[in-house]
Amino acid sequence: MCWTEMFLRARRRMRSLISGLPCCFWFLLLFGAGGLVLFIHLEDLSEMVQLGPEGKLSDTTREVRGSNEGLKSPIPPMQFPAFEPVSPGPPSHDADSSQVTKRHRKLLKTNPVMRSQGKASFLPPSSSSDSSSSSSADPSSSQSSLETSRVLEARRRWVREVCTKYKTKIPQNITSKRLSRIFVEDKHKILYCEVPKAGCSNWKRVLMVLAGIANNVTGIKHNAVHHGNHIRQLDSYKREGIAYRLRNYTKVLFVREPLERLVSAYRDKFESPNNYYYPVFGRPIINRYRVNASKEALHTGSGVTFPEFMQYLLDVHKPVGMDIHWTSANHLCHPCLVDYDFIGKFETMGEEVNFVLHRIGAPANLTFPTFKDRNPSAERTSLKIMQRYFAQLNAADLQRVYDFYYMDYQMFNYSKPFHELY
Ligand SMILES: *[C@@H]1O[C@H](CO)[C@@H](O)[C@H](O)[C@H]1NC(C)=O
Ligand SMILES: *[C@@H]1O[C@H](CO)[C@@H](O)[C@H](O)[C@H]1NC(C)=O
Ligand SMILES: *[C@@H]1O[C@H](CO)[C@@H](O)[C@H](O)[C@H]1NC(C)=O
Ligand SMILES: *[C@@H]1O[C@H](CO)[C@@H](O)[C@H](O)[C@H]1NC(C)=O
Ligand SMILES: *[C@@H]1O[C@H](CO)[C@@H](O)[C@H](O)[C@H]1NC(C)=O
Ligand SMILES: *[C@@H]1O[C@H](CO)[C@@H](O)[C@H](O)[C@H]1NC(C)=O
Repeated sequence: MCWTEMFLRARRRMRSLISGLPCCFWFLLLFGAGGLVLFIHLEDLSEMVQLGPEGKLSDTTREVRGSNEGLKSPIPPMQFPAFEPVSPGPPSHDADSSQVTKRHRKLLKTNPVMRSQGKASFLPPSSSSDSSSSSSADPSSSQSSLETSRVLEARRRWVREVCTKYKTKIPQNITSKRLSRIFVEDKHKILYCEVPKAGCSNWKRVLMVLAGIANNVTGIKHNAVHHGNHIRQLDSYKREGIAYRLRNYTKVLFVREPLERLVSAYRDKFESPNNYYYPVFGRPIINRYRVNASKEALHTGSGVTFPEFMQYLLDVHKPVGMDIHWTSANHLCHPCLVDYDFIGKFETMGEEVNFVLHRIGAPANLTFPTFKDRNPSAERTSLKIMQRYFAQLNAADLQRVYDFYYMDYQMFNYSKPFHELY
């Protein structure tokens, strides 16, 4: 028996009890107590989170890497039980709900299956994604812009909900390190948080044009975008400057399907010669994970396979630290700390980016570029290509990679990319 089932049963019991009394009485009582009870209930559950089955953590818990701030250090696995979605009805009764929780706690210790079932109840239905709606629509028509506005608003609300649900697992204070991926454009008052492999080079081009550093997006070379030091990062300002901008600027974030982004990063950094990633990441990865590596491979660091790359990613004792190209969007941009006004998706970038540009008052002749900077001849990483790469992994490792990006999946409402994942 799973948690949700039990909770529903307990609720049903309460309902039949409740129906015996005048409804206005119960309405008033529950209305008053509801908020408090709900709060206690959530607190109780989060306490429960910490009480995972000690001995079996590695194979029965989901590693969400919630506190993976240092990126290099081993990350304690965490467990997230199901939360009843906040909306459906007031919670039953103080005593009753705590009783349920106690029973759950016991259950949690003995029944690992509960977790997956519970999680399923929290996941949105995985039929179609919100990205399929208006891909061919004219972005300037008010109908489609209304739709885009609605989608973006819903996405923002969704992130807030997820943040509330996981609040005990997410850092609560803003440090300058947590703002270091945010780029500043003062003229139009924009903060853009950079998520590599999700259109960030083109966003930076746009920021440069907006700031007046360049005339047009086409003229800006890749190196000038990333190494030109043209746009300042938020953490380079003083405390007051940071606070002022966080309060008054339009905050923008664009994300991408996490595993697709990961494969895109692998292809970009390891499938064609790279004089940074080959020596800095390739060598230690081959050295650590390849049996009988050739002298040449150990020397050049070239030819890291996707499974080797995944071994590295999942290793809690990495021979070399993380890199922004495969750090989760959550850890780059901290959407629970920074209340982004627009959370766009790479998958529907066209409409959403134009919508955002319009909102921030960008000149009408500025259109978002569609450059693919590196390896322009290689096919853009798609869902299909991503699945081909992950076919090389066994089910357990696939699950672990998904768990690694679990918060990104939750926050940005991406559906599970493989059926066998739980
Ligand atoms: C979340 O995704 C589901 C389907 O994948 C979609 O139906 C739903 O509208 C999305 N919710 C938000 C808030 O974007
Ligand atoms: C942020 O929180 C951590 C741990 O709770 C604490 O050590 C640190 O001093 C806090 N930093 C700030 C700026 O409040
Ligand atoms: C857009 O128009 C302005 C003048 O209104 C001009 O200075 C600028 O170069 C134009 N930008 C592009 C990308 O054409
Ligand atoms: C874009 O800028 C480059 C250099 O700044 C310039 O050579 C080119 O003519 C510009 N293109 C357009 C369409 O304005
Ligand atoms: C920035 O925000 C603060 C507080 O919300 C407000 O007092 C101030 O007037 C704002 N400044 C501008 C330029 O909008
Ligand atoms: C590694 O090389 C040794 C000697 O050449 C060989 O006996 C062994 O089978 C190789 N191991 C693997 C996993 O290829």
